[in-house]
Amino acid sequence: MTATVITGISELTTNEPELGRLTEAAVVVDGERVVWVGRSADEPVADERVDVGGRAMLPGWVDSHTHLVFAGDRTAEFEARMAGQAYSAGGINVTVEATRAASDEELAGNLRRLVNEAVRQGTTYVETKTGYGLTVEQEARSARIAADVADEVTFLGAHIVPAGESAESYVDVVCGPMLDAVAPYVRWADVFCETGAFDADQSERVLQAAKRRGLGLRVHGNQLGEGPGVQLAVRLGAASVDHCTHLSDEDVAALAASDTVATVLPACDLSTRQPLAPARRLLDAGVTVAIASNANPGSSYTTSMAYCVATAVLQMGMSVEEAVWAATRGGARALRADAGDGAVGVIRPGARADLHVLDAPSATHLAYRPGVPLTWAVWRRGQRVV
Ligand code: NIG
Repeated sequence: MTATVITGISELTTNEPELGRLTEAAVVVDGERVVWVGRSADEPVADERVDVGGRAMLPGWVDSHTHLVFAGDRTAEFEARMAGQAYSAGGINVTVEATRAASDEELAGNLRRLVNEAVRQGTTYVETKTGYGLTVEQEARSARIAADVADEVTFLGAHIVPAGESAESYVDVVCGPMLDAVAPYVRWADVFCETGAFDADQSERVLQAAKRRGLGLRVHGNQLGEGPGVQLAVRLGAASVDHCTHLSDEDVAALAASDTVATVLPACDLSTRQPLAPARRLLDAGVTVAIASNANPGSSYTTSMAYCVATAVLQMGMSVEEAVWAATRGGARALRADAGDGAVGVIRPGARADLHVLDAPSATHLAYRPGVPLTWAVWRRGQRVV
């Protein structure tokens, strides 16, 4: 294999307490892994040398929450929302109809286009979900297509009760034949626990069935109002509960006492005209917080993690360091992918070589220059892709 030393790094965010944040740093990549991290003055000789000219490097973004297997467009719904209409779970059915009508090639093409769009902006690890098929065949198709492209796949058959079906009999299908059909392609199962989607009992049935199948758990909770999602996620040991926009003090305390990551989705809160999730309150209570894009055609049609990070700093009271951690190692923690060989969200020997260089001297510029496309170079699995 060819080892490459990347040098001239003005500021290196490693997300590793022992390594910390280095200045005047260098990183050596061999194959898919980082093999050395240190000061550029001590850089080892390698087969190739790339000088990034005094720019900042951080781990690639880990986008731990997206819904990218879909067809169609919901511009009209967005326009209505901006004119004052409230977001509701019901809009999902519009995308379900378009997704069912699309060919495999169309769905795979759209998914690849959006993942490429994310990679060009520094995202190197992507989770995505099913949830716009909602029949056994359609969910299995979405899972299969997702597994070809995404780093992590989540089964979200319990996204909404399809039009014309009863919730109880649909949950029976989700827990039985649908779970069987998607299981070969997915690592995670998720449920939209919210008014207008699934109640606490229905959500628990889905999560328990998934747990029996050996899947890890995730929950969409507390998006549109306070509700049972957070408490359910914590009680069942979910890796992450996502949205967390409306939280009681009991919810925050339960998260703080658990290993469940609270994933906040700032672009979604803004696009649905919800308040921004109380990330500062969560951090102050000791909760592990992740930031993700929630890229989907309804509630959050952006793949820009930089936009989410800038929003977290400028409007949610997070420091740059906290927001960058949440969008890299926090996302990796939410996917249980930040430990061991090939870890993501960190830059240390043995980690996957997922590196993001900014056209800026420090990560602070992500919030200082919001909206500016700062991605200058990206390595994904050791390959330079931008
Ligand atoms: O995370 N909340 C549920 N699912 C998505 C929205 C999907 C849609 O509106 O199409 C979300 O916001």
